[in-house]
Amino acid sequence: MTTEHFDKAASNWDKKPRRVQLAEKISGAIARLPLSQEMDAMEYGCGTGLVGLSLAPALKCLTAIDTSQGMLDTLQEKITEQGINNVRSLCCDLLADDYSQKHDLIFCAMTLHHIKDAEGLLHRFANLLNKGGYLAVADLVEEDGSFHDPEAKGIMHHGFDTKKLIAVLATAGLNDIKSEIIHTISKKEQESREYPVFLLTGQKA
Ligand SMILES: C[S@@+](CC[C@H](N)C(=O)[O-])C[C@H]1O[C@@H](n2cnc3c(N)ncnc32)[C@H](O)[C@@H]1O
Repeated sequence: MTTEHFDKAASNWDKKPRRVQLAEKISGAIARLPLSQEMDAMEYGCGTGLVGLSLAPALKCLTAIDTSQGMLDTLQEKITEQGINNVRSLCCDLLADDYSQKHDLIFCAMTLHHIKDAEGLLHRFANLLNKGGYLAVADLVEEDGSFHDPEAKGIMHHGFDTKKLIAVLATAGLNDIKSEIIHTISKKEQESREYPVFLLTGQKA
């Protein structure tokens, strides 16, 4: 249901400096995990690859997954233009489609709030991690619903209570779970508002 919106937005997605800046903050925070050239990684909700393509050089390979073919087409253009040979794009819904490949790192940026069964997706991520693998999820801290336009579709959560997410990851079998605020988005469209963004990380036992 949000797929059409993202298909249409794809070609202009990277033109908003606020999005690029946020992606830089998220990739910079994920890069503080012990990444290595041995890691087989997956990004879920990769969009145009703003986060994934900056992390890919530190990894063996990256499977970049999204449900919007428009977003993936824009990502694929970058992969081709830049001659990147360790990133593949894949159209897949992890909560509806078969997918069983295991990874050493799974990351997900600003996508969880679009997923109705966010808890189910976190469990799916945990199940797709190799032993010792890392999960990193960035999204909005619980907000009052003013972050997105009132007409925006596919907003399933107005951010998250990170304590609840930490509890979900613990039941999903992750250790060393941490949450930190890595960025604050300032919006000044009507009145000035600030929206903190968290990065939640954990390691598969
Ligand atoms: C706000 S964008 C973030 C894109 C990218 N992670 C970034 O930070 O620039 C959300 C992305 O999630 C994707 N998405 C929405 N629902 C999804 C779902 N159920 N499964 C996978 N991807 C989804 C959208 O197509 C879109 O690319």
